[in-house]
Amino acid sequence: MDLFEYQARDLFEAHGVPVLAGATATTPAQARDAAERIGANSGGVTVVKAQVKTGGRGKAGGVKVARSADEAEQLAGQILGMDIKGHTVGTVMIAAGAKIAEEYYFSLLLDRANRSYLAMCSKEGGMEIEQLAVERPEALAKVEVDPNVGIDDAKAREIVEAAGFDEATGAAIVPVLKTLWTVYHDEDATLVEVNPLVKTEDGSIIALDGKVTLDGNADFRHPDHEALEDKAAANPLEAEAKEKGLNYVKLDGSVGIIGNGAGLVMSTLDVVAYAGEQLNGSAGGDSIKPANFLDIGGGASAEVMANGLHIILGDEQVKSVFVNVFGGITACDQVAKGIVGALDALGDQATKPLVVRLDGNNVEEGRRILAERNHPLVTIEPTMDGAARKAAELAAAAN
Ligand SMILES: Nc1ncnc2c1ncn2[C@@H]1O[C@H](COP(=O)(O)OP(=O)(O)O)[C@@H](O)[C@H]1O
Ligand SMILES: [Mg+2]
Repeated sequence: MDLFEYQARDLFEAHGVPVLAGATATTPAQARDAAERIGANSGGVTVVKAQVKTGGRGKAGGVKVARSADEAEQLAGQILGMDIKGHTVGTVMIAAGAKIAEEYYFSLLLDRANRSYLAMCSKEGGMEIEQLAVERPEALAKVEVDPNVGIDDAKAREIVEAAGFDEATGAAIVPVLKTLWTVYHDEDATLVEVNPLVKTEDGSIIALDGKVTLDGNADFRHPDHEALEDKAAANPLEAEAKEKGLNYVKLDGSVGIIGNGAGLVMSTLDVVAYAGEQLNGSAGGDSIKPANFLDIGGGASAEVMANGLHIILGDEQVKSVFVNVFGGITACDQVAKGIVGALDALGDQATKPLVVRLDGNNVEEGRRILAERNHPLVTIEPTMDGAARKAAELAAAAN
């Protein structure tokens, strides 16, 4: 889960990373109040910052300096509702204005390829770090961080030296890097990025912008992280699936997909996309592609199958559904019972055709259950390719 800047700021503050005062506002009037309070300690100067989960807000006009509460109100009026790279601004943060002397860059991230952590640091921070990494990679120091040791004093000094900081500045940055490590480690983050990390005119080091990604696999250790979720942005079907413990990702197409095991579901997406492409040529549209990813997992019960089907049938974009199960731990009779149960529970509300391909554990019994129920919406196909083609054709026919 990616955090908003203001959430990262709060997390930094809780761990003792130096940050500026900041408060959120969702209306210009709130922005004015916040600017009055916060500006009182920063010479009346505040910065109005769009809260969207994308970088380059400054360039896009989403970060503006206000010299008075009046101006903060006016700027908030401009920035709220603005579209930044497809994200609509619903909240701004009013931050104290900093007197910046220099802007640096620091990040710590999970380096999957090397099964390690990687710290990156540069004396040249600010808005163009991606460009810097490409054009002058030597200006961006990369230092491996041993997950078992983290950023201790020695590692922090290694990082600032690699980045080429002078003695005094390096010494001021070292404790900040150590604290950022505790954020990364204690919160189970996979990314902590500070761009810019600034030195102010009076020489203090402050994290001016923060980007944090938390590892969802560690949620069980952090009950407090749930409150950081952006409920408003969550897709309602994804939220429902999460509640039911299903692994579901909403996509854009019209062929709903259920399978058991992430690998099988991924290849099912591929064969459906391929079948759709063959058809799109003739049908002229481009919507015949997977509508979702849904893995019911190993050993799924009839209830899990029914829950999954319920979510997919609730997606208005879905025109047909492909159930692709290779029974291993999952027994095909349970899958068949789940399908029949879900369709019967839906009654007249079930209107979308289902193509079912079952194989493996208890397949005879599974096919028998489906054949016996003989539901008009269900087609049984023996092969995965054939079933994908059929599901794609049915979706095309419904368009
Ligand atoms: N509180 C602040 N005081 C002064 N300048 C700021 C403040 N916050 C941001 N800035 C300036 O705006 C630039 C962009 O802001 P930042 O928060 O990094 O947004 P983004 O990275 O999305 O463009 C910073 O590099 C800095 O120069
Ligand atoms: Mg930034």
